[in-house]
Amino acid sequence: MKPITVITKPFPGQKPGTSGLRKKVVEFQQPHYLENFVQSIFNSIGPCDGHTLVIGGDGRFYNRETIQIIIRMAAANGFSRLLVGQGGILSTPAASCVIRKYQAFGGIVLSASHNPGGPSEDFGIKYNAANGGPAPEKMTNEMYQQSQNIQEYFSVESEDIDLDSLGKRQIGDTKIEIIDPVIDYADLMESKFDFPAIAGLFAGGKFRMCFDAMHAVTGPYAREILENRLGASKGTVVNAIPLTDFGGGHPDPNQVHAKELVSRLKGQNALDFGAASDGDGDRNMVLGKDCYINPCDSLAILAANAKLIPGYSGGIVGIARSMPTSRAADRVAASLGIECYETPTGWKFFGNLLDAGKITLCGEESFGTGSDHVREKDGLWAVLFWLNLIAVKQLPVATIVSDHWAQYGRDYFTRHDYEGVNSDSAHQMIDRLRQSLDELPGQEFAGLRVDSADDFSYHDPVDHSEATKQGIRVYFNNGGRVVFRLSGTGTEGATLRVYCDCYEDSPTRLAQDPQEALAVLIKAADQVAGIKQSTGRMAPDVIT
Ligand code: G1P
Ligand code: ZN
Repeated sequence: MKPITVITKPFPGQKPGTSGLRKKVVEFQQPHYLENFVQSIFNSIGPCDGHTLVIGGDGRFYNRETIQIIIRMAAANGFSRLLVGQGGILSTPAASCVIRKYQAFGGIVLSASHNPGGPSEDFGIKYNAANGGPAPEKMTNEMYQQSQNIQEYFSVESEDIDLDSLGKRQIGDTKIEIIDPVIDYADLMESKFDFPAIAGLFAGGKFRMCFDAMHAVTGPYAREILENRLGASKGTVVNAIPLTDFGGGHPDPNQVHAKELVSRLKGQNALDFGAASDGDGDRNMVLGKDCYINPCDSLAILAANAKLIPGYSGGIVGIARSMPTSRAADRVAASLGIECYETPTGWKFFGNLLDAGKITLCGEESFGTGSDHVREKDGLWAVLFWLNLIAVKQLPVATIVSDHWAQYGRDYFTRHDYEGVNSDSAHQMIDRLRQSLDELPGQEFAGLRVDSADDFSYHDPVDHSEATKQGIRVYFNNGGRVVFRLSGTGTEGATLRVYCDCYEDSPTRLAQDPQEALAVLIKAADQVAGIKQSTGRMAPDVIT
């Protein structure tokens, strides 16, 4: 092993977004690009001497090459132990679990989540801290600063490490362990849920489900847990082999991208339960027979029923939801007499609340749900929570959902995404909205009057940090709310997200199509922001 110092120059734009640094693969493939960012991570968390680092990714194109580079650099930077997922695989929640279980210093996860993979698609790199959670803002800001001043990075000359067989390797003084990426995570799930009860559900053969791994990272996890440990029939998990390009698909578990799964839950021979997860395994979509569960409702329903689940039988201490997520969870929190925190978009904002023991469950409208068992959202965890709930209640999913609405009322919710729009016009639109905040109250749009409007900012009750400009909120006199924000995870142009939600508690109006129930609010949203004029689009690209 020969340590080497490589002279380099900063690349502009190495600023981590909502979830790490995400760029096109070709950008990462430029000489020194990846190395600069990895060194910037090490510089901002260092000194690294004697520490343990976890490394893994979602298996997308460039995953393996990146892992070899990181292993050499980690050795040169003094880490004494590297835990690397076999084949370079670790789902985001499994990485969080492994960091916590082995008390690592932190971990590097390679993923661009639900963005497509392949030579001309997306790649990403994110750092998780010792608590297993995404690096908080002050850490990512420091990484960016480091990347803008970097002059050298450190590596070693050594052969590629065999990532495919389990066991121990060594580079100089650095011990490298290739670990089973599934087992620690599967054990954790078994400790939280009533596996015998869920196995009972499958045993009768009457309950039929499908899990769509979308050729992304959760295939091996879902097979081990659902088919091997819980006895679901072979073939329950489809698209189970992680592929570098996700089979050409878009590994985002929603009704648009998991169309085939959605169709299997409809009609005469419909399955009882369906679920899908995204590229790196932290998102989930859950479906019942003829029933789609909005993630905002899912969080609220899990919270309302947590006491029925072994891992949460003592009750939950608090809930948190990202600001654009509907207020369904707030109603459950109020009835349980616990706090519901409203945080900016992005899982990193839940970390402090979880660490401080202020919340047990948290979630985002973007198909993210999780708890204090790890510090990431967790796709399979949510699926198992639902299966456990179904096993306890012995009711169809649709009934569990409608019972919930009957008790708490329903928060209709939809998100409209305008993808790849002109970045300047999108920013101008948000700026215009920001400037008009004071004048909006009292004005009418599509027959609705604005009650109040603001630009969301968050004061973290634990470390007292402030996050400003987190989304424009407009509240209307019918109880409806519209939120406008630009995505922090896209890699091309800008993505405008428009979130609409409105509460309904009249028993005869709980079963509408959300697009219909929210039609007037959607119209008002367009008028307030001038979406059509600014984006030049007549309709959103994706509706969830
Ligand atoms: C999106 C979601 C957000 C989620 C993030 C990472 O971020 O909206 O809730 O935490 O992906 O999965 P955005 O692109 O909106 O910044
Ligand atoms: Zn993800």
